Parts: sequence; C-alpha cells; structure tokens
Amino acid sequence: MLVGPLFCLFELFVTAGTGASPVQKVFDTSTVNRPRQLQGRFLHITDLHPDPFYVPGTSISKACHRKIPKNEENRAGYYGTPYSECDSPLTLTNFTLDFLEDHWAGDVDFVVWTGDNARHENDHKIPRTMNELYEMNDALTKRMNDIFMRRGIPVIPSLGNNDIYPHNIFGPGPNHITNEFLEIWQSFIPFPYHQVFRQGAYFAVEVVPNALAVISLNTLYFYDANDAVCGCNYTSPEDPGNLEFAWLESQLKSFRKRGMQVWVTGHVPPSNYYPECYVQYVDLALKFQDTIVGHLYGHRNADHFFFVEAKDMELTNKTKRASKRSDLYDSLLDDFAKLPKPKKTDLDEYAVINVSPSVVPNPYLPTFRIFTYNITGVDNALVFGGSDRQMNAINVRAERSFDQHQEQRFELSECKDELYRNTGWECQPPTSADAPSRVSRLWTPLGYAQYFIPHLKDANKFGDPEYKLEYTTMDASVLLPREGQNRSSFWYPIPMRNLPKSIQNGKMKEKYFPYNMEDLTISSWLELARRLGDSKERRLREKFKEYMYLGGGE
Ligand SMILES: *[C@@H]1O[C@H](CO)[C@@H](O)[C@H](O)[C@H]1NC(C)=O
Ligand SMILES: *[C@@H]1O[C@H](CO)[C@@H](O)[C@H](O)[C@H]1NC(C)=O
Ligand SMILES: *[C@@H]1O[C@H](CO)[C@@H](O)[C@H](O)[C@H]1NC(C)=O
Ligand SMILES: *[C@@H]1O[C@H](CO)[C@@H](O)[C@H](O)[C@H]1NC(C)=O
Ligand SMILES: *[C@@H]1O[C@H](CO)[C@@H](O)[C@H](O)[C@H]1NC(C)=O
Repeated sequence: MLVGPLFCLFELFVTAGTGASPVQKVFDTSTVNRPRQLQGRFLHITDLHPDPFYVPGTSISKACHRKIPKNEENRAGYYGTPYSECDSPLTLTNFTLDFLEDHWAGDVDFVVWTGDNARHENDHKIPRTMNELYEMNDALTKRMNDIFMRRGIPVIPSLGNNDIYPHNIFGPGPNHITNEFLEIWQSFIPFPYHQVFRQGAYFAVEVVPNALAVISLNTLYFYDANDAVCGCNYTSPEDPGNLEFAWLESQLKSFRKRGMQVWVTGHVPPSNYYPECYVQYVDLALKFQDTIVGHLYGHRNADHFFFVEAKDMELTNKTKRASKRSDLYDSLLDDFAKLPKPKKTDLDEYAVINVSPSVVPNPYLPTFRIFTYNITGVDNALVFGGSDRQMNAINVRAERSFDQHQEQRFELSECKDELYRNTGWECQPPTSADAPSRVSRLWTPLGYAQYFIPHLKDANKFGDPEYKLEYTTMDASVLLPREGQNRSSFWYPIPMRNLPKSIQNGKMKEKYFPYNMEDLTISSWLELARRLGDSKERRLREKFKEYMYLGGGE
C-alpha cells in the first residue's frame, strides 16, 4: 500500500534547521573557466559507497568488517567483494578515480555524479555518524575537484539516500545537511544557486554556457522511503517535493526560453517516488520533452532503462505501480511487451529514464558509463568556458527554431478532475517533434559505452583490477573511420586507446554491440524496448538481463 506520512509539520523542521550558516567561501571561478574544447562525451558515475571500515579477508557476512572465516569463499576481497552486500573498500574507490584521471579526464566535457558516497547502514556494531558521511563526501569531492574541476570540467553531484543520517530521512531546508553539503560542494554549485541549495539541495549548472545544462535534483523529497515529507501531497503546497517541482518547472521554462537543452539528473529514479511526486515528474518530463535531452539516475545499482508515460498520469488508481512484479527484469519486459506498435505510438507520450549501474560491487560489479552526444555544428576550433561569455553562445540559438509552446490543455483525466485542477499542473501538451530528444541534432545523446571490472575477485595487492568495455549501445560501424574517411578530422565516439585491442585492430566482436542503436532518441529507445518485449528475441533478452545483474541475481 502506498500511503503518505500522517503528519507533515514543516514548521518544526524549519525552526530546528535555521542554525548558524557556514562561512561563505569565495567561489573560485578560475578553475571552471579554463578554456577547453568540446569532446562530445561525458561521464556518469554513481553509488561509490566507500567504506572506511572495510578490511580485506574479513567475513562477508559481517559487512566485510571483522572475523576471519575459515572458508576463503566467505572472505572479503582486496579490491571489493563482488555480488555481496559489502560496500567498497577505499582501494576500489581510489583505484576507480585514479583510473578515470589517467584514462578519461581529458576526454569528457562534464561529470554527472549521482550520489551515495558513504557506506550503507548494514552493521549495527559500527553505527554510521553524520560526521563520517560528511568526511567521505568531502574526501571524494576533493578528488573530483582535483581530477575534473581543476581541468575546467564541471562536476554535477546529487545527494543520495545514504549520504545522510539516518538514511532516507530528509526534511525541508535550510538545515544542517543542506548547509554542510553547500560547504562541501562549494566549487560545484554556481553562486546564484547557493540560496536555493540551502533550501532544498538542488541546483543547475550550465555545462556548456548558454547551450547545455545539467539539473541536479534532490530526489529524497520524492522518495517513497522518506517519512519526513508529504510525498507531494496536493493538500500541502509547502511540501518540499511540491516546492522542488515548482522550482524545476521554472528552471525548465527559463532554459527553454533561452533555447537550451537540459539533462535532468538525481539519485533515486522516479520508479521509487511517492505516487503524487511521480505524476508530477511525468508531467514535467513530457511537457518539457523539447528541452530535456535525457534523465539520468543511480540508486538501483542494476543497469536498466524504463519509460515514463502519459498513461502513468492516471492517478485514479494508486495501487497500479505497486502491483508490478517484484523482479525488475520481469516487470520491465512486461512493460515493454505492452508498448504500442510504432504507427500507433504518440512519441509525445514518452520519456526515457536511464539508470546507471554502480561502482560498489553490491550486489554486482564495479562500473561507470561514458555517454557520447552530437556536437556537429560546433566549430571545433571554438573553445568555451573562456572569459568572453559572448563567445560561449556557440551560435546555438540561431540553429534552434522550436515553435513557441501553445498553451493548450493536455487531454488527461486529472486535468478535468477538480481535485487536481488547482495544484499547479498545467496539463499542456508538448510539441517537440524536432527536439534533440526526438531527432539526432546538436546535443542529442548518441550512445554510451559501459565499462566494468569483470574479474574483481582476482585483483589483489599484487595485481590491479581492470576496467574493461562491457558493451556499447552504438553500432560497430561508427567507432572507427571508414575507408576513405579523413582520419585526422574523424570524431572518435570512444577514443581509440579506451577501446579493446580487438576493436582497435578493426575486429568488431559481436559481444560489444548488442543493441546497434543509431542514437539515444526516444524512438530509438522505444524500438529497443519493443524488441525486448518480443519473447522471440531470446538472445537480446539474455544480454539485457546479463547487463542488469552482471551474472548475479536480483
Ligand atoms: C494528503 O494530506 C491529507 C491531509 O493532510 C491526508 O488526509 C491525505 O491522506 C494525504 N494523502 C496522501 C496520499 O498521503
Ligand atoms: C585513498 O586515497 C586517499 C586520498 O587520495 C588516501 O588518503 C587514502 O590513503 C587512500 N586509501 C587507500 C586504501 O588507498
Ligand atoms: C484499482 O486496481 C485494483 C487492483 O488492480 C483493482 O482491484 C481496482 O478495481 C482498481 N480500482 C479502480 C477504481 O480502478
Ligand atoms: C548530428 O546532428 C546533425 C545535425 O546537426 C545531423 O546531421 C547528424 O546526422 C547527427 N549525427 C548523428 C551521428 O546522429
Ligand atoms: C583532413 O582533415 C584535416 C583536419 O581537419 C585537414 O587539415 C586535412 O586537409 C584533411 N585532409 C583531406 C585529405 O581532406
């Protein structure tokens, strides 16, 4: 049953939270404004879960914290313990960040970092403290600063349900958590957003000034495990979830007005929201399909994607989402099988949510994900992030000519329902047939490459683990220049040195190319989902499941 909390006494939280605010540091703009060239790639990394109490060799059943079991199988691994409930040893999180610095730092334009930078609450003998969580976040933030911000590459973090104590529970700001994270993430949060961050721990960053932005949501205000909020109850306009959606809408409107594109990012994906938060999310995702290029989340640790759909907005039966099958793979295939045929599909009614797998091998294997996106038309000689803001506009707006949105009403049931008429949902339809989320043009996501450590268990003091390409959504034909193509002007979606040797030598092993997607537009995702929904596609389904669970179980 999905029922919101009984009491929503926000006044209490507000008074308790308005303590002394931290000293304001001067925002160091010199780092972010280092000129650089667009690469057409970004990194999505999530759920690192470093655990300072992890001791290699200890018992997996004791959270890898103590006791040496007789059977070697039950002992914590040196770089982490795959398919277990243990968190990451610092050797693994350090190795991962060092690896990204050595192999990727120069090849990405920005970094989406979707939270959970502390261990789970899974050992009552060593309770977590807020201080430990701040320290872990602080340490990782310093590394992220070193690796990326120092090179002028923006990092956009978001708050995970395990970054706070007690986990999941987060009331309205300003409170000590929003104040402390503002301090920790000072260099990531643009100064104009400091005030709003103090209120709700959300903000936005123009990763390509005047052209492309990333919005970092505080999804804990929507998360159905957070008892400190009202779950976007329409009777509570002051509910922090409702306030956050109002903010999100105003951000999206202003980015739309400026002809910009936006990635919406956060920790907990919409599939875990309170029903009324979910409905508002879907509403905005569809209404701003012309402005949002994609939605990126973590938290579930399992590699998957799903759709939010116009039909989800029928609030009349709230048990609907709860009645889904409990196994993620089965329930996704069920949903995919129900998708309408292409000709009967109204693309306005869909948005795609991408959930990236985690760094922590709990309960799978360590991973990270590199997205590629269309930068055609951006003058390659043009640097951005320099002091001349005018130059940064990249002539994008000239190219964009989307229709101004008509203020039509969206013909959905709750728009007619008096109960919801006054809740601020505008029930207007999107008109985004030529938007980057729908057709490949400037800023459209083209694909991603998924990296993982397949043999984590074999790594030890004497042998480092190895991140390898697991698969890419792209077609093999786009990775290398074709015969007759100019090699020196070819844009490599994945830099040669980060491809497996076999691919570098022109041998396109099938295992790396399960999906052969042309791009990551909504129709491309629907096409893949329809194939997955077809029970005759046994091999494809096996692949999808293998990526989701990496050989482990749900
Ligand atoms: C919304 O709030 C009202 C009044 O506080 C309450 O009666 C109702 O049960 C709440 N609805 C949900 C879904 O929590
Ligand atoms: C991880 O890196 C941090 C700082 O970069 C360092 O202080 C720490 O000792 C390292 N820990 C391990 C286990 O490598
Ligand atoms: C809501 O869903 C439940 C379970 O599927 C069903 O039994 C019930 O009749 C539905 N109620 C309405 C109003 O559609
Ligand atoms: C990138 O966008 C341009 C238009 O701006 C388009 O012609 C091209 O096909 C797109 N590239 C890919 C790989 O989709
Ligand atoms: C290949 O591209 C480079 C860099 O854009 C250019 O300088 C060169 O003239 C091109 N060569 C040919 C044969 O087109």
